[in-house]
Amino acid sequence: MTDSIRFLMCAPDHYDVDYVINPWMEGNIHKSSRDRAVDQWQNLYHIIKDRAIVDLIPAEKGWPDLVFTANAGLLLGQNVVLSRFLHPERQGEEPYFKKWFEENGYTVYELPKDLPFEGAGDALLDREGRWLWAGYGFRTELDSHPYLAKWLDVEVISLRLVDPRFYHLDTCFCPLSGGYLLYYPPAFDSYSNHLIERRVAEEKRIVLNELDAVNFGCNSVNINNTVIMNKASESLKQRLTELGYEVLETPLTEFLKAGGAAKCLTLRTTEPVREELHAVTYLESRTLQMRGHLLDAGIMNRALDVIVDRGGSFKVLNFNLGAERQSTSLAEVRVSAPDRGVMEDIVADLIDIGAMDVPEDERDALLEPVPMGGVAPDDFYVTTIYPTEVRIKGAWVRLQNQRMDGAIAVRETAEGVVARCKLLRDLEVGEKVVVGVHGIRTVRKVEDRDRASAGEEFSFMGSGVSSERRVELVVEKIAWELRQIRDRGGKVAVTAGPVVIHTGGSKHLARLIREGYVQALLGGNAIAVHDIEQSLMGTSLGVDMQQGVAVRGGHRHHLKTINIVRRYGSIAKTVEEGIITKGVMYECVKNNVPFSLAGSIRDDGPLPDTQMDLIKAQEDYGRMLEGVEMILMLSTMLHSIGVGNMTPAGVKMVCVDINPAVVTKLSDRGSVESVGVVTDVGLFLSLLVQQLEQLTNPYVRNLSL
Ligand code: ARG
Repeated sequence: MTDSIRFLMCAPDHYDVDYVINPWMEGNIHKSSRDRAVDQWQNLYHIIKDRAIVDLIPAEKGWPDLVFTANAGLLLGQNVVLSRFLHPERQGEEPYFKKWFEENGYTVYELPKDLPFEGAGDALLDREGRWLWAGYGFRTELDSHPYLAKWLDVEVISLRLVDPRFYHLDTCFCPLSGGYLLYYPPAFDSYSNHLIERRVAEEKRIVLNELDAVNFGCNSVNINNTVIMNKASESLKQRLTELGYEVLETPLTEFLKAGGAAKCLTLRTTEPVREELHAVTYLESRTLQMRGHLLDAGIMNRALDVIVDRGGSFKVLNFNLGAERQSTSLAEVRVSAPDRGVMEDIVADLIDIGAMDVPEDERDALLEPVPMGGVAPDDFYVTTIYPTEVRIKGAWVRLQNQRMDGAIAVRETAEGVVARCKLLRDLEVGEKVVVGVHGIRTVRKVEDRDRASAGEEFSFMGSGVSSERRVELVVEKIAWELRQIRDRGGKVAVTAGPVVIHTGGSKHLARLIREGYVQALLGGNAIAVHDIEQSLMGTSLGVDMQQGVAVRGGHRHHLKTINIVRRYGSIAKTVEEGIITKGVMYECVKNNVPFSLAGSIRDDGPLPDTQMDLIKAQEDYGRMLEGVEMILMLSTMLHSIGVGNMTPAGVKMVCVDINPAVVTKLSDRGSVESVGVVTDVGLFLSLLVQQLEQLTNPYVRNLSL
């Protein structure tokens, strides 16, 4: 027996499963046998008593989980941080534990109200006492960790639990003597796994499989080289034995029904202090504010979800709820994250949603020089589609060329500071780039609560399939907007894939171009080849477009088409020579509508007009998209995504595809302006043309085919 090691336990006199506060308790209410529980507990008690001193805290009627003394608090030397249980079902245990600690001469620290922390269930000392592993995610709030560091004067490493079966750190993580670690990696998020791997060398990590994990293999009591647990597989026993441990199995199945086992039933009360080590916490906090229809438009939900999903925690400091339907709300939220990297990820997402620093905390954006041409500093801020401002020398500067996936390049010019979105490849030495997430905000127009819901109605994301009537409704709206844009001399771009031709949409698209509804056409080699093939030979990829059947030898048609255009030198010349007499490309040439065909690896030919230098193609696309108000994305995921990335929020995007997944991908940019329509693109175009025809506007000439 080792005199210096002590444990606190509580006999199961009043133990039962009375309520459900973890997945193990589900279906087990009053299903555990008191007699068997007493036997199992006694066995554990004796095993431990042979190796250490065991103190007992009296059982209390009405507090069935008091047996799990691991949850009493966290103790180091003479200091204890008392637990603050998350669930009311266990909160009544606190005074009993507090009393015991006080009577036994400990200094008891108590966390602020509403800051849950479940003691040694969620905080485990490295067995060498080098640091404290602290869990969060289910029972313990991340914000409690700095208190642990301060009061116990230790370094705290925060680990996030993500599997509800392993709701306490001690259910999936067990530091052993000699620097070894028994754990179940899938119970943690990837960031936490990374932390664990950084601290514990691979040969010291003993990874449990799921079966051992659900048998509570990690919930072990380690006394010197003895490891006491409910049950272990042969392989786990062998591994531990090889490492010099003695494994003692003692069934604790009655306690598993409440979600606990060996370690949960004990609290080690002698944890040696290493005087040379001191408090360290990596936790970062930052206060941000948000304004708008925070509730109606779902912004608050989204923001809080982002924080938690990404591994942070929050405290709403202020919430000024707009009382009237049209009034906006203002919220101040303190965000905490286990370290700076996680904080930056969270804040970057929150900036997208429209969050900004509280005025007292406004700071200039951090700038770092471009290290070499075409390369940004590591920590560069990645831009989004939303209008963005950066704070430089106290003033907010609006970015030029807003687009997604760029860096913010800042230059001081004679006229003042210029900030613009630039692609990495365009960054130049001498420029500075915004790094981190300070002094950046997106400028959202206050999302009109009615419009937000109208947008929903308008797209089909929720319902998955769009009924015919709903397609008609959307088409009506789009037709109306197209008409408006055309009448005021605005700009509409179309991205189109070859499916437009296969589905018989060619004549409709041609007509839209002829009638002045399209100011730029963006696509690849295929749309042009198929369109011209149809004009010249009546087939699209060898299929007769009138009959809908494959034509004998038709598959050669598209190569012959390419060959013809190559002979004339360009699409425009082939049109001018009177060879191409109709179709989409024909109308573009005839009506001076610029087009850009971006090449790809699978292109046949290509047509002389196809731009095979993709950087040039991207530049062409960018130029043609300048000033567009609406983009019709017709059945081409590749070109549409390319276009989407170049386009700032505020441009209406209409994505049409028969594949719902494509539509979701394209229209899911979190901006109200995008609309997805799941339907056949040929059908869509024919409806659109019909609808435009019906819009009788005395100021425009009549449409005729
Ligand atoms: N029924 C208890 C609860 O859900 C079990 C506690 C287990 N304790 C532990 N340290 N994992 O709170």
